[in-house]
Amino acid sequence: MLAKTPPMGWNSWNTFAQNINEEMIMQTADAMVETGLAALGYEYVVIDDCWSLRDRGEDGRLVADPEKFPHGMKYLADYVHSKGLKFGMYSCAGTRTCAEYPASFEKEMIDAQTFADWGVDFLKYDFCNKPVHANGPLCYYRMSMALKASGREILFSACNWGADNVERWIRSAGSHMYRSTGDIHDNFQSIKDIALSQIDKLGYSTPGCFNDMDMLVCGMYNKGNVARGGCDDTEYKTHFALWCMCASALMIGCDVRNMTPETAALLKNPELIALNQDPEARAPFAFVRTDDGQLALFRHLANNEYALGIFNLSDRDRNIFCNFYDVGLSNNMGLCFEMKDMFTGEVVRTNTDYYRCPLKAHDCALYRAKLVKA
Ligand code: GLA
Repeated sequence: MLAKTPPMGWNSWNTFAQNINEEMIMQTADAMVETGLAALGYEYVVIDDCWSLRDRGEDGRLVADPEKFPHGMKYLADYVHSKGLKFGMYSCAGTRTCAEYPASFEKEMIDAQTFADWGVDFLKYDFCNKPVHANGPLCYYRMSMALKASGREILFSACNWGADNVERWIRSAGSHMYRSTGDIHDNFQSIKDIALSQIDKLGYSTPGCFNDMDMLVCGMYNKGNVARGGCDDTEYKTHFALWCMCASALMIGCDVRNMTPETAALLKNPELIALNQDPEARAPFAFVRTDDGQLALFRHLANNEYALGIFNLSDRDRNIFCNFYDVGLSNNMGLCFEMKDMFTGEVVRTNTDYYRCPLKAHDCALYRAKLVKA
């Protein structure tokens, strides 16, 4: 079964957009291994939009742009596989992709077969230029079936930006992850808006099909295609913590060949990855959520453990009050939490009834907790 836990990897779009080529993708695959990201589970190297020629070949097949990819896609897939990684590509449910390259509407079978022949392991399937009179969910049913008919196991990454209440039907369509919002930008407002829009929908994420809150902007520092102001390291920390807590797919969007030590340490934090990949794959619930941006999420993990994430999404420093009554722990139970800080390793014991967490603007705290006698 694919996607027992949220899929992890890297995608070219956030940083590179149309500036993609064989050498850069090969260097990225090398860097995934050399930085240790691959060993931690980031396994898919995905080429997004702008990889093909503007027209199909005479045989009706998609053709890789020979200037960008002089040896073709099979060669690149073989290289990515030789590194122990998996290879992902991109198409779209409409007549043209978002960047107006040929797409797979009513070409599902031939395109799925082309991807399978090239050795593709992952297909991101976008939603631009879908004819208005074509049914959205049906486009995903069709491509899902075409991928299965190709004879190759291909992870199906749907990207319809949350249209048609996607969370209600996309798992049934055979998809393994699904974009649930419009595109992320490299600034804190975008991160905050996406996270808050998805919290009440995370219960739809289950083994086999996970919410994809969009590619990470961690480590972009206002460079690249989705730069819109940038973030600082505290904001990237909160971004990654939210995506891990919410069991989102984790697709890195920065240039992994040139990460700062802070970015590498964040994306490789083993406690956060273990949280994201928790085998029970349960959704968190919000038990503090105020209009001014105070948020606390609580999540049941495997082995009777819990995760507590406290987020100050507001623009000024706060003391966030977490009332444990609201997660199921009442004062008369004689229990409290022993909590390990997932960033510092420090162990904290709480009161039986509450925890008050001082947080700078845009900062967060994340704990792995177990119940102990008070
Ligand atoms: C859409 C998607 C993005 C990216 C671009 C490519 O906007 O949501 O993630 O794939 O198209 O053109």
